[in-house]
Amino acid sequence: SSVNLQEVHDWSVDLARRAGQMMLDGSNKRFQNPSTEDHKTDAKKNAVDLVTEVDQAVEAFVISEIEKRWPSFKFIGEETQSAGADSVLDDHPTFIVDPIDGTMNFVHGNPWCAISIGLSINRIPYIGIIYSPFLNEMYTAIRNQGSYLHKPNQPPLRLPLQPPTPLAVNTALIITEWGADRTTIGTSALSESSKENFDVKLRTYFNLLRNSPNMVHGMRSYGAASLNLCSVAAGHNDAYWEGGCWEWDVCAGWVILHEAGGFMCEGNPPENFEADVEGAKVEEATLIGRKYLAIRGAKGGRKEQE
Ligand code: IPD
Repeated sequence: SSVNLQEVHDWSVDLARRAGQMMLDGSNKRFQNPSTEDHKTDAKKNAVDLVTEVDQAVEAFVISEIEKRWPSFKFIGEETQSAGADSVLDDHPTFIVDPIDGTMNFVHGNPWCAISIGLSINRIPYIGIIYSPFLNEMYTAIRNQGSYLHKPNQPPLRLPLQPPTPLAVNTALIITEWGADRTTIGTSALSESSKENFDVKLRTYFNLLRNSPNMVHGMRSYGAASLNLCSVAAGHNDAYWEGGCWEWDVCAGWVILHEAGGFMCEGNPPENFEADVEGAKVEEATLIGRKYLAIRGAKGGRKEQE
């Protein structure tokens, strides 16, 4: 494409740092003066799907900066979408942004939250920048150019930090998230697929944790989809499954994972995780898939061919 990926990448890294500073300042204000009317936490879909004034301010800032610098690019963001803005993914270069991924953590003063800035072209994630200002970690990637972890006063670390291996469930650390979708079968008028979502999550915990030949080493839930993907990319975890993600949750992390030799699949986790992944029963993912399985070692232990 005609997009100068390096230029967009460098600009986005700078933008992420400025947005991250807004998160730090916003968090300080919230905790220093929690009673002020400016610090509202509103519920979106339900009582655990939250948005704060900081999410909204960061997204407004990001949009205005993009409009100034890349006026021909499209934008998809979590908060404008929740507010009803049209955001259909198409082939145009599109910034896909979660201003604060891990809003629940942010509200609680838990440092596991980040700004996630992705760029898709032809619906393929090309650039991923994920910055956690509280953890002071920045993950960056350009498609086909590797992914990196940047920490203060250290040279960038190329990902993965450990060599990828094929997924072996019985020695794996696997991330799953409960997400904000807590509706169980039979409790609402939602579509069959979303009614099923929470029950599938419960079954997945049961299948992976109980004492069996497929018992995992451990299950984790950090509360920010973007950082979960980075964690698999780095090699700190072996896989991450979640039902109910949006493109702003996964776009940036996708590039970072892909460049670290990992693989994104689409769909529910199979009963026998390992065999079905190897047998390719889980499909390769698209950006609007909603249900994702991210694996550290690529399918079959090999890096996907371009
Ligand atoms: C959410 C977080 C959470 C995940 C949800 C996401 P938000 O993003 O990443 O961990 O379970 O699926 O939507 O709402 O904090 O930006």
